[in-house]
Amino acid sequence: MFKFTDDQLAIIHAEEKRVVVQAGPGSGKSTTIAGAVAYQMAEHKHSGYDFLIITFSRFAARQIREKIQGLDPVERNKIDVDTFHGFALKIINKFTATSWTIMDEKDLIHVMDGNGYWPLNTKFKDFINGKITAPSARRENIKAFEKICNQFKWITYNQLLTTLVKNKDAMAWLQSRYKFLYVDEAQDMNPAQLNIAKLMDIEYTTYVGDVSQSIYEWNGAAPRILMDLSEKYKTYTLSENHRSNSDIVEASSKLIMHNKLRISGKNTPTRGFDTRCINVHHRDEMHSSIANSIQEYSDDGELAILCRTNREIAEIILELGNLGIDKSLPASVLRSNPLFMMIVALVRLRTDPCKPYWMLFLRDNAAKDGFSFSYDKYSFSEPTSKFANMAPEWVDRALEIKDFGEFLEYFLKTLGSEDFSDDAILASRLIKAFREASDGAEEEFLAWFATMDVQDIVPEETSGVRIMTMHQAKGLEFDHVIVVLPKYDGKNEESRRIVFVSVTRAIKTLDIIAYPDNNYLEEMGLSIEDGTPPLPF
Ligand SMILES: Nc1ncnc2c1ncn2[C@@H]1O[C@H](COP(=O)(O)OP(=O)(O)OP(=O)(O)O)[C@@H](O)[C@H]1O
Ligand SMILES: [Mg+2]
Repeated sequence: MFKFTDDQLAIIHAEEKRVVVQAGPGSGKSTTIAGAVAYQMAEHKHSGYDFLIITFSRFAARQIREKIQGLDPVERNKIDVDTFHGFALKIINKFTATSWTIMDEKDLIHVMDGNGYWPLNTKFKDFINGKITAPSARRENIKAFEKICNQFKWITYNQLLTTLVKNKDAMAWLQSRYKFLYVDEAQDMNPAQLNIAKLMDIEYTTYVGDVSQSIYEWNGAAPRILMDLSEKYKTYTLSENHRSNSDIVEASSKLIMHNKLRISGKNTPTRGFDTRCINVHHRDEMHSSIANSIQEYSDDGELAILCRTNREIAEIILELGNLGIDKSLPASVLRSNPLFMMIVALVRLRTDPCKPYWMLFLRDNAAKDGFSFSYDKYSFSEPTSKFANMAPEWVDRALEIKDFGEFLEYFLKTLGSEDFSDDAILASRLIKAFREASDGAEEEFLAWFATMDVQDIVPEETSGVRIMTMHQAKGLEFDHVIVVLPKYDGKNEESRRIVFVSVTRAIKTLDIIAYPDNNYLEEMGLSIEDGTPPLPF
């Protein structure tokens, strides 16, 4: 276990009621939040019940909880660690005594447009995308929308926060509920999230972030919020990087110098220097380079492959499958495994009041092109078309068999009779893990699936490789990171920040895959010559 630095201890012992921490990647911001909570509990005898920590993802929430060391596990479990959305949903459910289903707006467009669910004479899509502007038409659309959401108990991500703020009882309760609030990744707060943090008015509130890592501006986040807070409140900073090998720190620092919006101050490496810890590979050799890296690093900690888009992820997974090493990747692809998607859609069909939608959805997708669940995100059509034949029967039986356990038995049996081999094994592991975790209660399946730990399902030895989008990787770290560099867009500072976040996830080695003329390479002081010649694979 390491010792906190003096700068980190200053944050841990801070006595101001409003604090901002602005510091670079790997400087120990998230670790310091964990240290501050542990300190308050051990030294000032606060209960875990007094703390709320907001993080960016469930994965990050779990990491922070694990970092809070040296405490009675019972007290530690009382600490609330959640995302803004997860937290808002929990509170809204509590105060409306309802179990709301979060719906993505894209999902809603598919439900409303074309399935007879939208009662109005306008396109739902136009309404959601803000194309309907006349005030009277907007009012009418909003009313219809709220009515349908209420009927099916749906809530969108956007509605979550506004609904919470409007609920006076919930807000009054929140105002006396916690003593300490920590917001990690505060550079990606949007105005509605800041509003909630402010309205809760928790006695001690700490905002932690790095404007150079703001990557959700396209989605309403405003890095300006953190800058403004730091002008108003006592601001602490950290200047050492405890995560990455020194040439990774150097390359990433050079890169971010090309942005106007960045924090001043240092990010000095404290870890040793490993020779050759950055390799650049030609984009034309992407698949063999990834395959080689997976082999090379397989016995040495976690490896993550970071891509800009889900489409690239799908492409890599398929290609690695062709190279015969798809078995190294299950952890990463589990949630998007088409058969899992099918199970989820079948459970939704059974449990969601909007049955006709899911029925049409399943039939359309299965019949059209194999099975592609996430509309425009994935296209697994070719290797998954084997599900197409089974889908209509699955849909019928999903509606017929009342008992969930019985339905799962039926589902497993049909899998066994088809040649679905690898996927079938994974699906039966999924169902087994679910039954063990929650006694098989159907109403818990979707929530369990959304938060399940992939390690429950894939065997230990194959769980060391993850593939995810650059956005999902925020706040995380891995021993080895492979970054598939996006197209250069030098004028767009957020694009550069996305690359910055990606390369700063690496602890020991960083492999970059790019076309030689990609200017991000030059900005990092790298070139394709920094690569190894491809090994025969
Ligand atoms: N004082 C320290 N000595 C040694 N290692 C440390 C120290 N502080 C933090 N670390 C380690 O450095 C790594 C990075 O820490 P952490 O994830 O908290 O950084 P961060 O500032 O939150 O990064 P990011 O901006 O990417 O979220 C972790 O592995 C953590 O355990
Ligand atoms: Mg962090």
